[in-house]
Amino acid sequence: MQSAIAAQSGLPMSDVDPFSLEYIMDPFAAHEQLRNLGSVVWLNKYNVWFLTRYEEVHAVLSNPKTFCSSKGLGLTNYYFEKPWRAPSLLLEADPPEHTKRRQVMGRVLSPANIRKLREGFEQEARALIDRLMEKEIVNGAKDLSEAYILKVFPDAIGVSPEGRENMLKYGLMVFNAFGIHNKIFEDSVKDAEPVISWIMSCCERDRLSKNGMGELVYQAADAGELPQDEALMLVRSFLSAGVDTTITAITNILYAFTQFPGEWQKLRANPALARQAVEEGLRYETPWHHFCRTSTEETTIAGAPIAAKQKIMLSIGSANRDPRKWDNPDVFDINRIAHGQLAFGTNIHGCVGQMLSRLEKEVLFTELAKRIESIELAGEPTRVVHNTMRIRSNLPLKLKFAAKA
Ligand code: HEM
Repeated sequence: MQSAIAAQSGLPMSDVDPFSLEYIMDPFAAHEQLRNLGSVVWLNKYNVWFLTRYEEVHAVLSNPKTFCSSKGLGLTNYYFEKPWRAPSLLLEADPPEHTKRRQVMGRVLSPANIRKLREGFEQEARALIDRLMEKEIVNGAKDLSEAYILKVFPDAIGVSPEGRENMLKYGLMVFNAFGIHNKIFEDSVKDAEPVISWIMSCCERDRLSKNGMGELVYQAADAGELPQDEALMLVRSFLSAGVDTTITAITNILYAFTQFPGEWQKLRANPALARQAVEEGLRYETPWHHFCRTSTEETTIAGAPIAAKQKIMLSIGSANRDPRKWDNPDVFDINRIAHGQLAFGTNIHGCVGQMLSRLEKEVLFTELAKRIESIELAGEPTRVVHNTMRIRSNLPLKLKFAAKA
């Protein structure tokens, strides 16, 4: 038994519960405690290894042969248990199946295709900021992040305008399932049926616009690069992975600016820092905080013996604040070059949508910096109780607008 190995070998064991309310509300103290306990810590409650240090998290992500994805990104172990939905053809697949699909998606999301989106994103960001001027208090989560992403992202994919709020409900289910099947997950999949059927139907070719990225996936299937029946599932992976993540990132970065107002002034003075600020924001409060790999064979991590078919939980949120890697990790500093931050993962599964997501955020924060003099909290933010993501549903903000040039 892996737990006996942990006990006998004197490896650190912990009663920390990453799915408890206390941890969900504020995991940072637990991260520090776990990082200090050791490179690899056994979680008594879930019988899994938990990695919280940068070096080991990076090493596991960089070794997909020994630490696979096809047995699930949550604690459900597909070696022994059934997945709750048909697994993702990318996130929950290993080479060689993963490789071909990934090449297609990489081409669809190529720098050339993404560059074409910039102007549209800029227009939407400016129009949104104009609308926000009418509000005394802006909910940074809904009025800003959600409003912007639910417009620009599905437009880029080619999804019809009606019913887009289903993508939020779907994202909640998908990312909660990357944790455990607890009440949080059960609540998010209540009334799942209409949401799942909306998602599946809007990924059908005849429902997508002809000039979106979804159509490009179908064209790759026409060219024989993919089986036809994989195209719909790959379009679904855009919608599963690209919405909640970016909305959450934007909300978290707005929150970081309220906590470090000097950083907003730096960005105001030089909006060209937006890209760097976004990268630092992703490091500072990583949206998708943890997920798993499964060992395919007996192995070791930092000298700790790991059995085959064993779940290993990786906290990229903690790795991104590991003082062994970062100076003053609890400080949000937009002059930092946060190169190597792990919010998008790394290696073969490293986020295929990261360039698109970076552009969405860079454009928005550039436009905000040009128009908003200061940004302050106007009330207590509300956190969504979530298994794997750090989401706020309400971020009350007081924005001071500069006179329009
Ligand atoms: C700030 C926003 C985002 C964050 C934090 C994020 C995070 C991540 C992470 C951590 C992974 C790797 C998971 C793993 O290693 O198992 C990943 C993969 C992925 N992401 Fe993102 N993502 C974001 C935006 C997007 C967007 C906009 C899209 C779609 C255009 C997208 C599509 C995907 C897909 C399809 C994968 C699977 C890649 C593969 O397995 O080869 N993501 N993302």
